[in-house]
Amino acid sequence: MTEEIDALAGLGLTRSEMEAAALAGRQVAGRLDKSTALQLLREGELIVVGRLMTASNATFFAIVAGGAPDPGPSNFASCVYKPTRGERPLYDFPDGTLACREVAAHAVSEASGWDIVPPTVMRDGPFGEGMVQLWVEVDESVDIGDLISSDNPALRRIAVLDTVLNNADRKGGHLLPLPDGRILGIDNGLCFAVEPKLRTVLWRWRGQPLTDDECAVLSDLREQLAGVLRQQLRPLLTAHEVKATARRIDDLLASGRLPRPDRNRPAIPWPPY
Ligand SMILES: Nc1ncnc2c1ncn2[C@@H]1O[C@H](COP(=O)(O)OP(=O)(O)O)[C@@H](O)[C@H]1O
Ligand SMILES: [Mg+2]
Repeated sequence: MTEEIDALAGLGLTRSEMEAAALAGRQVAGRLDKSTALQLLREGELIVVGRLMTASNATFFAIVAGGAPDPGPSNFASCVYKPTRGERPLYDFPDGTLACREVAAHAVSEASGWDIVPPTVMRDGPFGEGMVQLWVEVDESVDIGDLISSDNPALRRIAVLDTVLNNADRKGGHLLPLPDGRILGIDNGLCFAVEPKLRTVLWRWRGQPLTDDECAVLSDLREQLAGVLRQQLRPLLTAHEVKATARRIDDLLASGRLPRPDRNRPAIPWPPY
């Protein structure tokens, strides 16, 4: 980590302070349409507000401000900024690749039509290039323990998508329940390894047959991976990783079932929350 980033550690804010800052910045996540959000994230001025002290990498809470003269509600949004050079090295993923993996996870989520990953882009910022993701307002009244032991269909879709992404870190704290009942999945940096690494708290549906809808989404995703989605993923992942993603979809469709944990490797991330 660079000295500048370490110096900013002093700006650590609690989650409620972040929320207050978000409101002050006319937080409009969830009310912004997706393309406005993506444009703001890509083109707005990125202003770092503080560092998220609970995060495992150098992860910042920031605001993106657009250039319109009237600071209307679609001219500001709060976001998370994870500069590549603040990534903590890991033994099982190549250095400096997590931000790209998060952007790639957003691309696959969008292609699925399931809207699981909040708008996420790659861009330059005060600490260099990194991923910038729309901050979403969470329903704080939801107990994550209760949620993950529930039969919520939104979680099942996340379980299917995580199998495609080969998500090695689907913790309880990476599931964000929204006030409108949707559930989003964040912190998707540990995805797209070539070798199987699925580690998740969402094993409730293990071995269950895929529904017709899920098969249709997966077949469509597979088709997109032969064309436009492949083009989107290629600058973000290795060719091998893109191919492995296609193979995971083929395997899911061939088995027709959600996977079961593999006894030969850890199936649950640590810590699970
Ligand atoms: N897009 C987001 N919207 C709302 N809260 C978020 C978002 N991204 C991260 N957070 C919050 O910040 C915490 C740290 O972010 P996370 O992505 O887990 O960082 P790290 O990769 O460093 O572990 C999360 O547990 C969550 O509470
Ligand atoms: Mg995390």
